[in-house]
Amino acid sequence: MPRLRNARTTWVILALSMAVLLGLGVGGRAWQAREERVAVAKALTGGGEPNRAAWLLTRYGCGGCHTISGVPGADGQVAPPLNGLVQRVYIGGIARNTPENLVAWIVNPQQFSPHSAMPPTGIGPEDARDVAAYLYAQQ
Ligand code: HEC
Repeated sequence: MPRLRNARTTWVILALSMAVLLGLGVGGRAWQAREERVAVAKALTGGGEPNRAAWLLTRYGCGGCHTISGVPGADGQVAPPLNGLVQRVYIGGIARNTPENLVAWIVNPQQFSPHSAMPPTGIGPEDARDVAAYLYAQQ
């Protein structure tokens, strides 16, 4: 029954096409949302570059203590996970969550919280700005 098979094939192709279009739509929206978060994070930090930060988070050992989404091997359980930071009110439970404070915290947490268990890692303010932008862009 070639007719029937053709009809069925047509439906399968139609269904697959719909699925692909739907997938593209969903993927496109997710990509757009991510781009918007990156733009906001760059603006907040005065030009921090999130795309430079993933290797910095590895280089300065942040991932040994913190779980950080998008950074391979950053699965530390010593300290709070660093996702959704943009929604927090306080950093380290003590400093207002402003971009300046976040950069300053990343460079030297003890200036806010002398007894903080987070050590200064040796990261400088320039790199810390990129890292702050990355963290603000993460959901
Ligand atoms: C030796 C472990 C350790 C390392 C390495 C480390 N941190 Fe932390 N971090 C902590 C601890 C512990 C806290 C919680 C400290 C506190 O509340 O006083 C913290 C808190 C934070 C906070 C505030 C989180 C919140 O929920 O308020 C940020 C942001 C942060 N760290 C970023 C970083 C970055 C970026 C790096 C790398 C440059 C890094 N940390 C490296 C242990 C670490």
